[in-house]
Amino acid sequence: MQDYHEFLDEILMDEQAIEKRVSELGAQISKDYDGKNLLVVCLLRGGITFTADLLRHMSIDPEVDCMSLSSYGVGRYASSGNVRVNLDLRTNIEGRHVLLVEDIVDSGRTLAHVLNMLRTRDPASLRVCVLLDKKMRREVPVQVDYVGFDVPDKYVFGYGIDIDEHCRYLPFIATVDLKKYRKPE
Ligand code: PRP
Repeated sequence: MQDYHEFLDEILMDEQAIEKRVSELGAQISKDYDGKNLLVVCLLRGGITFTADLLRHMSIDPEVDCMSLSSYGVGRYASSGNVRVNLDLRTNIEGRHVLLVEDIVDSGRTLAHVLNMLRTRDPASLRVCVLLDKKMRREVPVQVDYVGFDVPDKYVFGYGIDIDEHCRYLPFIATVDLKKYRKPE
């Protein structure tokens, strides 16, 4: 894999900015769900880093479960909208307060798919928390209840978000200079 310094265009959010915003979201969510038995659902894989940090900024004690979804098909640097469920929840969510935690909403197709699927299971409430919202790319309307940052229509990586399955480990979120990026062999 190419060294990310070669294709990094701009750091949109550094570690401190992310930490500050995640702590605000954690505090808001803790307030909103105070006294309720919350189930946090991490959407794998991009949501791992954000969910882990968000949990550590909560003052409530939610249960945690995971789902793995992936979009596939045409268009590598943008979601295709075809959504596959790789791993479903272990928890029965009927009558539960559920908060989905996702790294990024782009076309909205992944979230729309999972929301439709989970609504049929009769949760008491179902809300969404995303770190990044690429609003101008929305194709399907989805309600997002908690947003970390709005981001421009550029390919982003870091803080859980991959570029060709790499760079998820980086503590910041940056844009890619696609002219300088070489896809791994
Ligand atoms: C990415 C991201 C969201 C989705 C957003 O997932 O994590 O789930 O795309 O795009 P959309 O709003 O257009 O549907 P990806 O399929 O790349 O899987 P990953 O989380 O495992 O990296």
